[in-house]
Amino acid sequence: MQVGLIGLGNFGSAMGHLIAGNGHDVLGWEHNASVVAEVNVAHVNTRYLPGIALHPRLVATSDPGAVFRRCEVVFVAIPSVFIRPTLAPLRNEAGEAVLLVNMAKGIDRKTGLTAFQTMADLFPRNPSVMLSGPSVANEFVRKMPTTVVLAGAHRGDLLTVAHLLDTDYFRTRFSDDVVGVELGGILKNIYAIGLGLFDGKNVTSVNFRAVYLTIALEEIARFGVRMGARIETFLYLSGMGDLLATSLSGHSHNRHLGELLARGASLAEARQKMGVLPEGFTTLEAVLYLAEKMHVSLPLAKGLWDVIQGRYDAEAFIASFIKDFVE
Ligand SMILES: NC(=O)c1ccc[n+]([C@@H]2O[C@H](COP(=O)([O-])OP(=O)(O)OC[C@H]3O[C@@H](n4cnc5c(N)ncnc54)[C@H](O)[C@@H]3O)[C@@H](O)[C@H]2O)c1
Repeated sequence: MQVGLIGLGNFGSAMGHLIAGNGHDVLGWEHNASVVAEVNVAHVNTRYLPGIALHPRLVATSDPGAVFRRCEVVFVAIPSVFIRPTLAPLRNEAGEAVLLVNMAKGIDRKTGLTAFQTMADLFPRNPSVMLSGPSVANEFVRKMPTTVVLAGAHRGDLLTVAHLLDTDYFRTRFSDDVVGVELGGILKNIYAIGLGLFDGKNVTSVNFRAVYLTIALEEIARFGVRMGARIETFLYLSGMGDLLATSLSGHSHNRHLGELLARGASLAEARQKMGVLPEGFTTLEAVLYLAEKMHVSLPLAKGLWDVIQGRYDAEAFIASFIKDFVE
């Protein structure tokens, strides 16, 4: 099958490599021209996925329209803020049968739409699947065991995607709770910032982390259920699983933001250092806004936001966490 990818960053390259290794031709659009050249000529992506020899059936292009014209299934792996500007001009390029798979994790502050909902808004007639769960690209690209969740309304679409991805070391599970599966992945990014904040202040005891992650999962589930998700979805791979993966992994951009802030960087300095602020940051603002409108109390997320904005001292926040935030 001819498979398409939007974004050959860290996650997109790893997914393209996986799908190509399963015997499919993969055409991946990439924003950075230097990455396109490197993938096609040397079959490597030193910027986003260093140290990996990419499968030769993964081919890069600078023409996003070509991906939609030629491919039957298109996986989207760019940060959620780029989804609308990148995909909106392609609305007329995609036939209605093209199956779209969203892997981005974020909420748009202006529209209140998640990445999956933004894609549905842009391509209302196309079938679509949400992929989420604990899937650190740098691990599964090295064949480390990984299981993700595919969510969608139609089992046939889920099976199509599963057949492209499943290997001995990479497995998929199905869910029909698209909202819950997507929100677990989106919301855990917020709490990863907090984890980085605590790490940066050397608050790393197991007792403390257990409390923090428990409260984080409680807030994720509270908000998610209010948004229409089923509570049990947050107890599985795309909820607790993804939260644990982020908290145990050293690769999270969101966690890195927290660490920078804990070490005294301002938001502007962190932005300069990281190039672009991670999705957890934009998501946090959008989630707090929605939570206020929908009468959902998220004291931990609110406390994190106040620290990020410099309205609340990180040390005071940490000191008061157990006393004031644990209900
Ligand atoms: N990396 C992971 O392990 C992982 C795991 C699960 C989900 N995800 C999700 O996948 C998505 C991509 O994450 P990533 O880690 O691959 O990011 P990345 O930083 O490695 O790559 C960023 C991608 O965005 C593209 N980009 C940059 N500027 C752009 C612009 N102006 N317009 C359009 N595209 C632009 C880049 O070219 C690149 O393809 C995110 O939503 C992330 O949450 C990542």
